[in-house]
Amino acid sequence: MSGDADVGEIPLVAGQLPAHVAIIMDGNGRWAEARGQARHAGHKAGVASVRSTIEECIRHEVRVLTLFAFSSENWRRPKSEVALLMDLFVAALQREFKRMQSNHIQLRVIGDIGAFPEKLQKRIRSTENATRANERLVLQIAANYGGRWDIVQAARRLASAARNGDLRPEDIDEKVFARATSISDLPDPDLFIRTGGDHRISNFLLWHSAYSELYFTPVLWPDFDAVEFRRALEDYAGRQRRFGRTGAQVEAGD
Ligand code: IPE
Ligand code: IPE
Ligand code: MG
Repeated sequence: MSGDADVGEIPLVAGQLPAHVAIIMDGNGRWAEARGQARHAGHKAGVASVRSTIEECIRHEVRVLTLFAFSSENWRRPKSEVALLMDLFVAALQREFKRMQSNHIQLRVIGDIGAFPEKLQKRIRSTENATRANERLVLQIAANYGGRWDIVQAARRLASAARNGDLRPEDIDEKVFARATSISDLPDPDLFIRTGGDHRISNFLLWHSAYSELYFTPVLWPDFDAVEFRRALEDYAGRQRRFGRTGAQVEAGD
């Protein structure tokens, strides 16, 4: 466990909490290597952080949680590591299904899932269908996801709608474009967290993070517990989001 005893004592005000949190869960490999273990052990240990983060989101009434589980570039990793990540994903979907239902969690997977083994694709689709009506938390797992891929697939969708006569090119604006991306009907992330100490976006939600508050922590993902998550929420609560306006305008409520 990490964190100070005093974290958690500052009350978080509902209006200052993010509706959508997106997380690059990074640092599993280094966590394991620091213990003299194989990288696999870090990925397994990271599952507990996923669980505690989901619980904290429910507790704080965060409506959408998007977790970066596998990037479109992660195929470059050794075959055995890719295979283990797939196995962990299938096992988690299977094991957590009941808990998702009892906690009213709606699962969505964003990314190019056509590249995954058939068994995993089927499991993803059946879990999405079975949890579709759940409304407490939308849990989005970004798997074989790339921000550039998302923008390209949106452009492709719009181009084919235009070709079919369903859309006029001049009607494409930011709203229409956003709806064609994979998180179409959900708000953009308010808080964008990266664990593991690196300060980069790694092709995560490029379109959607235009005005997200970025939070980078050196804490490795398997050590990112409820205390660390709360620390990120507190940091977020202290930010002033200006969206182009001046600080004085925001304070005056203009
Ligand atoms: C993040 O941890 C998990 C995935 C990318 C699947 P890493 O595996 O990237 O861990 P580090 O960055 O090598 O420590
Ligand atoms: C980003 O982490 C992807 C996920 C957490 C799934 P990486 O560890 O793959 O990112 P880079 O390669 O260090 O940028
Ligand atoms: Mg990494």
